[in-house]
Amino acid sequence: MISRKKLIAGNWKMNKTSADAATLVGDLVSAIGKQNDVDVVVCPPFTSLESAGKVLEGSTVKLGAQNMHPEASGAFTGEISAPMLRALFATYVILGHSERRSYFAETDAFINKKVHAALKNQLRPILCVGETLAERESGSTLKVVQTQTELGLEGVSKEQAASLVIAYEPVWAIGTGKVATTEQAQEVHAFIRDLLTKLYTAPVAQKVRILYGGSMKPANAPELLAQKDIDGGLIGGASLEARSFVELVNAAIAVK
Ligand code: 13P
Repeated sequence: MISRKKLIAGNWKMNKTSADAATLVGDLVSAIGKQNDVDVVVCPPFTSLESAGKVLEGSTVKLGAQNMHPEASGAFTGEISAPMLRALFATYVILGHSERRSYFAETDAFINKKVHAALKNQLRPILCVGETLAERESGSTLKVVQTQTELGLEGVSKEQAASLVIAYEPVWAIGTGKVATTEQAQEVHAFIRDLLTKLYTAPVAQKVRILYGGSMKPANAPELLAQKDIDGGLIGGASLEARSFVELVNAAIAVK
C-alpha cells in the first residue's frame, strides 16, 4: 500500500490583516518551516496572500487560498481567479467549503467548475464535503457525501485525480467544539476512499489525501490522525495561533 504523506492545512477564514498574517507565518516558519515529514499549507484571506507568501519563501510551508472564481478574468466584481492566485505563488485552493455552500449558495455544479479551473492552473483543489446535523440525524450522511464528491469531481480525469485533496468536514463539527468521533470520521473517510476507487481505480484512490475538518485541536488530533484513512486535517480555529497549529503539525509528524 502507498503511504500517503500527511497534510495539515490551516483555513484562516476571515481573520488576520496582511501584517498579522506575516507575523503568524513568521512564527510558523521558525517552528516548522524546514521539516518535510508532513505537508503544511496555510490559507489566509486573499488580502494576506502576498504578505504571507513573502514570509513563506524558502520554507517548506505552502500557500493556499480559500476560494476562487472559475473564470480566468472578466466582469465578476469582487472575485479572484486561479491565474491571480498562481501569480501570488499559491499552490492549493479550498473549494466548496460548507460556509461557501450555505452563506453564498454555492452549488455542486459551480464548485465543479472551480475544481476544473484549479486543476487547469496547477492549483491543487481541497474539495470540502460534509453533512449537516439534520442530514446525519436522518441517516443520509453517506448519501450527501457521495453526491457532493461525485458532482464536485464530475469530468475530472484519472490523471488529474491523483493531485486532489478531499476534506471531510461535518458541518455540525465546524467551529462548534463538537468533534466527530474517530469511528464516525474513519467511516466516512473509508467511504470516500471506496468511492474514489470506483471512480478512478484503487492506485489513484490510494494517492488522494482525505483530510478531516471540524474542531480539530491538539487534544483530539493524535487519535484522528492515527486512523487508516485520515490523512491530515483542515483546521479553522486552531490554525489562528502558531502554538496550536505547530502542535497539530507535530501530532501529524508523530503518526506519519
Ligand atoms: P474549526 O477547526 O474552527 O472547527 O473549522 C474547521 C473548518 O471549517 C476548516 O475549514
